[in-house]
Amino acid sequence: MAAGAGHAERVSNDEFRAALSRLAAGVVLVTAREASLDPDDPQAPVGEDVGMTATAFMSVSLDPPLVLVSLREGSRMDDLLAEQPLWAVSVLTESQRHIAGRFAMKGRISDRLLFEDIPYARGRVTGAPLVGGALATLECRTEQRVTAGDHTLVIGHVLTAEVPSAEGRPLAYFRGRYRQLG
Ligand SMILES: Cc1cc2nc3c(=O)[nH]c(=O)nc-3n(C[C@H](O)[C@H](O)[C@H](O)COP(=O)(O)O)c2cc1C
Repeated sequence: MAAGAGHAERVSNDEFRAALSRLAAGVVLVTAREASLDPDDPQAPVGEDVGMTATAFMSVSLDPPLVLVSLREGSRMDDLLAEQPLWAVSVLTESQRHIAGRFAMKGRISDRLLFEDIPYARGRVTGAPLVGGALATLECRTEQRVTAGDHTLVIGHVLTAEVPSAEGRPLAYFRGRYRQLG
């Protein structure tokens, strides 16, 4: 038995949140298209686009190229990616803070209106929305899903990677607030 075992301290939610809020993070928008309403008919209209603001996103491996996003179990994006293996990530700029805000709202039923005034292109491989003017965009296919506590770690193979706005500045999140660098 490891030293200290049996005297396990239990960290409180507040302690956990306070400590992790000190880890400055970039902000991304994860997007995916709901699967075709009729899986037997490739011409059938697809469902709506879904987006979710996330900071728990990271690079995992270069060869093969893998990334990871951690999704709260039961969130709309977690439910969608359980069915839809194709998804995308847009790395947001400091001028895209309003996009991060709207795609973090809890309990919303539809994202259709949220995408209406955002310039985006469809990923050529995934069909998922890629935010216009994002710092970087990645299209991914899920390679592995790992349940971790109350989240699902979704590991994606990167299919395309582009830097549409190479000169842009990042949107960051630190101590519970959006920040700009510098
Ligand atoms: C700055 C910021 C970062 C977030 N990062 C994540 C994340 O990495 N993973 C996650 O599951 N939710 C994250 N969220 C919460 C989701 O954006 C939010 O729960 C979701 O959009 C609401 O949809 P839901 O009702 O389906 O949960 C974050 C929210 C904010 C404001």
